[in-house]
Amino acid sequence: MRKSSIFILSVLIAFLIFAQQSRAHGQTNEIHAADNGLALTPPMGWYPWNEFGQEPQNEKLIKEIVDALVSSGLKEAGYTYIGPDEGICFSRGASGKLASNLARYPSGLRRLGDYIHAKGLKYALYTDAGTHTCSKAMPGTKDHEYEDMAAFAEWRADYLKVDWCNTQGLNVAESYTKLRDALRAAGRPIVYSLCSWGEGEPWKWAAGVGNLWRTTGDICAPGRADWNNAMKIAAANEKLYEAAGPGHWNDPDMMIAGMAGLSEAQNRSFFSLWCMMAAPLMAGNDLRKMTASTIQILTNLEAIGINQDPLGIQGHIVRRGGKVEIWAGKRLFDGSQALLVFNQGPAPAQVQVAWSDIGLAESAALYVRDLWKHQTSGPHGGGISLTVAPNDVALLRVATSNAFPLPPIIVADSYLVSLRAAGSTAQNLTGTITVKTNGSHELPLWKVRPGLPSWLSVAVTRNGKAQTLTNTVSTAGLKKGLYHALVRADNIDPVSGRPMSALYYDVDLEIMGNARGRARN
Ligand code: GLA
Repeated sequence: MRKSSIFILSVLIAFLIFAQQSRAHGQTNEIHAADNGLALTPPMGWYPWNEFGQEPQNEKLIKEIVDALVSSGLKEAGYTYIGPDEGICFSRGASGKLASNLARYPSGLRRLGDYIHAKGLKYALYTDAGTHTCSKAMPGTKDHEYEDMAAFAEWRADYLKVDWCNTQGLNVAESYTKLRDALRAAGRPIVYSLCSWGEGEPWKWAAGVGNLWRTTGDICAPGRADWNNAMKIAAANEKLYEAAGPGHWNDPDMMIAGMAGLSEAQNRSFFSLWCMMAAPLMAGNDLRKMTASTIQILTNLEAIGINQDPLGIQGHIVRRGGKVEIWAGKRLFDGSQALLVFNQGPAPAQVQVAWSDIGLAESAALYVRDLWKHQTSGPHGGGISLTVAPNDVALLRVATSNAFPLPPIIVADSYLVSLRAAGSTAQNLTGTITVKTNGSHELPLWKVRPGLPSWLSVAVTRNGKAQTLTNTVSTAGLKKGLYHALVRADNIDPVSGRPMSALYYDVDLEIMGNARGRARN
């Protein structure tokens, strides 16, 4: 054989071995969805449907929940996307364009977005792929895909859930793909959430279409948390673990943790399952009326850390015995592993977990971090034994070191810079955005994407885990009018070297009065 053929053959063999190893991990971690850097960890936020249904969804409610999300500490824990579900109540005007319902949202849907952005949160909206939404109270996007996606971009949505009601005769994959193209054409990077309840098996094709897809029917009727149904949903979603990864997630629906009817142990178990499944963490409870226990569960950074892990692996059941499940397969960014022991039985369970059960060497001596008790023990040789209360969990991390760092958890003071200048004299104005991580490590400097308009420049400075993006606007040569830029910054997690979700924010500039020059954008 010639030297070059031997070389090509060895490259091929190396590739096949690598491909085989990647399959053996059972995960596809490459980024499939559009190269907009969105949702590289599961989206976190709040949607009204589980608690409220359609009524009352209005500006007052959404703003109250926004304020509660901030004051309760959920924002600091990484919850970001928030807005109306069905209850958004837009209508289609004679021109075909969607219009806000000003009785329900007196400021209009665009200004509601500004309110949310100014609080350092992201704007989530809702529509349907069919002729109407599920209640038939609102128009769906069918045959209006491009103009509707343009409307969502104009309202400055950052996240869009697209329901699947009233879609007779439509093909799921084709419809959602058409809407993806329409979203791209609208030009604003928007997390795209497919909601066909598993119809059309989106886990088989939607990684290149959307960022998340519902895998099952609704988790509950509005206001009526249903533990048994939630467990059926978790069981169905668990089987699909190979389909999840950065930018493309299985979505077992919004959370019911903290709703009436669930015990503290059930809330803890529910949250642990959603964290272990790398499921989107969209809270569904009334954030204005949370008990201390609910807040403590929903803001447990150690549990959130495994959900927001940059490797984006969905854990799954590796051993089942009676009513006890052992979930593993979730390697984390620092080389540790997440481990969940879930006791669905009515009595306490005594459980032995051997390291070999979770794919580790039997001889390993490992430290164990309990993510609910916030305690580390070990090193434990061979495995551990623990007692788990009924309906409760042990959520653990195991590692050769006892460090257990948290991955990046990003919190911003605002996602909107709004500047105003008199047009008569040229001047420089600045507005800042401060972004911090509540993870363990300082981040490299955020890198602002080139291509900003000529009137805007952005400088990034660091102060420990916080970084400030200083936006300097030069009004020289700008005439009266409104100017807008969407700034994108990128970063990587310094421990795993994985790309982090891109950071986007809006800069608005209003030039009042007369100035020389031409409007540019
Ligand atoms: C569907 C979705 C729910 C909610 C309702 C609104 O049932 O699955 O999450 O959006 O529609 O009607």
